[in-house]
Amino acid sequence: MSPAVLELEALRVEFPTSQGVASVVDDVSLFVARGEALGMVGESGSGKTMIALSLLRLVPEPGRIAAGSIHVAGRNLLALDERSLNQLRGRDVAMVFQNPMSAFNPVRSIGHQLVASLRRHGCTGRREARSRALRALGDVGIPSPEERLDAYPHQLSGGMLQRAMIALAMVNGPSLLIADEPTTALDATIQAQILDLLRQRLGSAGLLLVTHNLAVAAGFCHRIAVVYAGRVVETGETAHIIRRPRHPYTRALLRAAPRIDPSRPRLESIPGQPPGPRDLVAGCRFASRCERASARCAARPRLTGGSQHAFACWHPVETGA
Ligand SMILES: Nc1ncnc2c1ncn2[C@@H]1O[C@H](COP(=O)(O)OP(=O)(O)OP(=O)(O)O)[C@@H](O)[C@H]1O
Ligand code: SF4
Ligand SMILES: [Mg+2]
Repeated sequence: MSPAVLELEALRVEFPTSQGVASVVDDVSLFVARGEALGMVGESGSGKTMIALSLLRLVPEPGRIAAGSIHVAGRNLLALDERSLNQLRGRDVAMVFQNPMSAFNPVRSIGHQLVASLRRHGCTGRREARSRALRALGDVGIPSPEERLDAYPHQLSGGMLQRAMIALAMVNGPSLLIADEPTTALDATIQAQILDLLRQRLGSAGLLLVTHNLAVAAGFCHRIAVVYAGRVVETGETAHIIRRPRHPYTRALLRAAPRIDPSRPRLESIPGQPPGPRDLVAGCRFASRCERASARCAARPRLTGGSQHAFACWHPVETGA
């Protein structure tokens, strides 16, 4: 396998609350190899964004990374001082957000922001930076890039701005790209175009694609990690996760995925709600919604298996099911 661009081990992210400490990310381990896309899938509030922000050490206050280790392109992120961390952000690891307006300064032109990022990370010549910025906009399929270079963020459509944000994220050739719901705000056609674009631009970089949509991850990613209430409950190669899910939650997610074929069974919702981060569940966090739960599930199931397929469940779905 190619060397890992991201190695995350036993990450825990905590928030202090009036009822005690809430662990919104609990013992999460992931890896992304060079040139590989890992899809991180889970319901709203499952901790996906907190995991993604941890990879840039950007967990918002008063949250904190309480345990674990994070290596990006072989560098120990938690050991870096603020200066080295700032160099790493945008150069070795970059992020694409759901809302592109949050990545751009509204009062600076797109070109100004691309050039500034290039110059911050070692491209000293103004003319060279401008021509690289122009190329970056052309590479993401923005028509008339010369004109767009001088445009302000609000002058671009949602889809175009999302392309510009991908250009900004990729301009310094990062080893790891994190995309947090990059297409959720876009319509289906533009969504497909943006995912295609990410695929083309990825090259040897690794991608962590955060999405609540299992179908998007399945169509795009080499491997998938399913997150539930702050823990990875199943992970492995996409074909294994989709064809032979072992965790009851993954199977429920698959049954809940919309289908166009009218002859297929109707959408099934997952009854109940996940526990909140303040509900201290010692055992399996899916137990209150799981039809297979037993007394044994009061103890925490650990991820077992290999890199091809691993799951955390005492009574997994049978392989032939
Ligand atoms: N500032 C905060 N204080 C306390 N808890 C927080 C704070 N920010 C987030 N959380 C909690 O952390 C948990 C994980 O949030 P996160 O934003 O990572 O979820 P998510 O999986 O990205 O959800 P979504 O799909 O809606 O984006 C949530 O339960 C949320 O309530
Ligand atoms: S460990 Fe138990 S409660 Fe949790 S998913 Fe498996 S069977 Fe269900
Ligand atoms: Mg999120």
